[in-house]
Amino acid sequence: RAAASLIVVSNRLPFVLKREEDGTLTRKASAGGLVTAVAPVVVDNHGIWVGWTGLDDFDEETEVIPESSPDDKAPTAGLRPDQAIPLSVNPKLFDEYYNGCCNETYWPLFHSMPDRAVFNRDHWKAYQDVNDIFAQKTLEAVRSVHEKRMAIPDCSRPDPPIVWIHDYHLMLAANAIRDGCNDEGLQVRMGFFLHIPFPSFDIIRIFPWVDEILMGMLGCDLVGFHIGDYCLNFLDCCQRCLGCRTDKNKMFVEHCGRRVMVRALPIGIPYHKFESLSRIAPRVFPSDMKIILGVDRLDYTKGLVARLKSLERMFKKYPKWIGKAIFIQVAVPSRVDVAEYKELKETIDRLVGHINGEFSTPSWSPIRYIFGSVNQDQLVAFYRDANVGLITPLRDGMNLVAKEFVACQSESDPGVLILSPFAGAGGLMQEALQVNPYETDNVADVVDRALEMSLDERKLRMNQLKKREKRMDVDAWVRSFLSGMDSLLVPSVRPN
Ligand code: UDP
Ligand code: G6P
Repeated sequence: RAAASLIVVSNRLPFVLKREEDGTLTRKASAGGLVTAVAPVVVDNHGIWVGWTGLDDFDEETEVIPESSPDDKAPTAGLRPDQAIPLSVNPKLFDEYYNGCCNETYWPLFHSMPDRAVFNRDHWKAYQDVNDIFAQKTLEAVRSVHEKRMAIPDCSRPDPPIVWIHDYHLMLAANAIRDGCNDEGLQVRMGFFLHIPFPSFDIIRIFPWVDEILMGMLGCDLVGFHIGDYCLNFLDCCQRCLGCRTDKNKMFVEHCGRRVMVRALPIGIPYHKFESLSRIAPRVFPSDMKIILGVDRLDYTKGLVARLKSLERMFKKYPKWIGKAIFIQVAVPSRVDVAEYKELKETIDRLVGHINGEFSTPSWSPIRYIFGSVNQDQLVAFYRDANVGLITPLRDGMNLVAKEFVACQSESDPGVLILSPFAGAGGLMQEALQVNPYETDNVADVVDRALEMSLDERKLRMNQLKKREKRMDVDAWVRSFLSGMDSLLVPSVRPN
């Protein structure tokens, strides 16, 4: 049988459109873990992606043009214009949904930082409305897939299409898609994947409309999270908020007569792509300097302020590294219209200035800070040439940077990964040096230890990490999601 069609739905398309001065639209890959992981899947499966273009005034009738100078190494390379279904939303409504509900409420709350969260009824209303707009656009995609199916002889028709909804922006979309499909007699299978942590009951219950969110997610047939802890939190919340019957061994929730599968599906990276790019990228740093590297969106969950303070402590406590080691931080601009992010940028600017002022010599500075994004060639060279990857989020759904760093390390002379246990990746990448990012003094000691680590220990740790990431790559992640969706075709587990 032919492979079922895949319709991916996420807030962002895998690229943002930018209107140039001459009025033309150019396309650039979006940043973030979701796009890095899912874009190659849509390209390979000839799927369809429904999402927002990044433009306030995008007209849906406008043709999405290909990149003027395509980056053939970007995750979106090979994505044809007709594979992207852009939608437009009134800018005010979109602002209340995206900056308001998604990034001022859910982002901090789901990262267990409720003090930063804002609760606003208008933002919640906008969230409901925009989820409905996404649902209607997705229904159009389902309809068009079904129309194409009708042209295929009955015996060779592929299985019903799969709608794969992503992330906290679209937790309410499933039920409207399901209702629309039921009304029109269109068969569909639906999965939801959350790319951020799912917090405990104590945290999620702070959100006034939590029941609606849970019921929205339960509109899917399969709900996936990065790690088992997030699954257990979700089951617990469904039971305590909605009174659902749940099973923690078989991992399902029963709701309104339907059985919803809950699965831990740890996301991976396109390992081979990173490994092979890292083999050919030109060297970027002088070989006599030790490099400590951080790569993150500029986000308060990433622990950048604590990390900078730890490095300040490191240079103070271990002056042997003055003139011998530098810390390079790539901070990709993110959510610049949200106050918390603007304030964070100012804090970091000040702190970098302060630390560089404190330790710099005429020929050396301790911190090189890049506020911007880097292209894939540069990124893999940064990863490969770094002696230490310093990845210390305060909370993170998974953290793909840790995995990409590992894929790019050489086998004969690898660097050392330092990782926070508060990232989803922390519990999985056991051979990394684990540090609590809140313990400034300890982080300083661990950075020193990493810089001094023997070649044998580095190889032992890194080669285990590499093996695991190679095995659990992004293809394995997609396969496990799709096999979960295929199990729905078995009548005994098919939800009503
Ligand atoms: N990344 C990027 N541009 C850059 C630097 C990084 O697109 O200039 C990518 C990086 O390769 C990684 C993603 O952004 O795949 C970050 O994913 P992660 O899971 O670490 O964090 P998130 O941004 O999703 O919170
Ligand atoms: C995280 C989220 C993604 C999001 C990305 C970038 O990875 O899980 O859903 O796309 O951050 O954030 P942005 O707000 O720019 O889309």
